[in-house]
Amino acid sequence: MSLDVIPFDPQRPGFVGFASGIELAAPLAPTAAHAIDAAMNRYAVLIFRGQPLTPDQQLAFARSLGPLDLGFKRVARPHARLASQELADISNLDESGEIADRAHRRVVGNLANQLWHSDSSFQKPSARYSMLHAVVVPEWGGATEFADMRAAWDALPEYDRQELEGLEAEHYALYSRFLLGDSDYSEAQRNALPPVRWPLVRTHAGSGRRHLFIGAHTTHVVGQTIAEGRVLLMDLLEHATQRQFVYSHEWQPGDLVIWDNRCTLHRGRRHDLSVRRELRRATTLDADHDPIDLQFAQGAA
Ligand code: OGA
Ligand code: MN
Repeated sequence: MSLDVIPFDPQRPGFVGFASGIELAAPLAPTAAHAIDAAMNRYAVLIFRGQPLTPDQQLAFARSLGPLDLGFKRVARPHARLASQELADISNLDESGEIADRAHRRVVGNLANQLWHSDSSFQKPSARYSMLHAVVVPEWGGATEFADMRAAWDALPEYDRQELEGLEAEHYALYSRFLLGDSDYSEAQRNALPPVRWPLVRTHAGSGRRHLFIGAHTTHVVGQTIAEGRVLLMDLLEHATQRQFVYSHEWQPGDLVIWDNRCTLHRGRRHDLSVRRELRRATTLDADHDPIDLQFAQGAA
């Protein structure tokens, strides 16, 4: 079997694809890793359905696509439920696996996932691929939405594009949490991940296409007043998340969705916090690597 991808929307063929033909629970052959990389460069979101994975299987799959990211775990790791540092617990469960109180640190922290963002854009290197796997999903709410930053760039008027070229924005790990009034972080946590700067417009290495790089971790635009930069960032976010650039994923247990953080934004949607929602995410760093070399380095088949 080999990777087969069908575009979700023929009108937007370079965005979301339904993928099949690869068994994610089995060790990934180097050719399959290359095929996924190539598909990710063409699409930006790949959806695999009906492939339940254990945490170890999910990690092994993710590792064959690149070195793994710790992301926000470098700031705080409250009440770990999952054994691995490299799995983000995208759930409303407490450390014993029960539905957590809505004031639980993880529940409050995960609410920032409901603002449009690119994972780990607050660090260098930032994230390349996020692989989110659904274990238990609620009946109401809790979809995840993705917005295509290459299409959003293509659709900007020439005047706006010229204005944006050369600008940089600062990204900070705790900014989106502060926005939501979640400010219970120590001095050490606040300093654990100092702000980084990224160009507002970048070239996607995998496709050569230009795209916006924005989202909830951006605090301001370098060289502009805070107010001017923030209205610009808000305006760009509003443009880039119009419905024609967005795909909304309704989860089923056993789904694995891979997205490219370089050229998409995503957000979770509201759901009933008293109903179990259990997903977990592994993420690769946007570091230069060759998936084949990495496979050999890790001794995988
Ligand atoms: C994530 C994320 C959104 C969601 O896992 O990185 O932002 O729908 N998740 O839970
Ligand atoms: Mn995220």
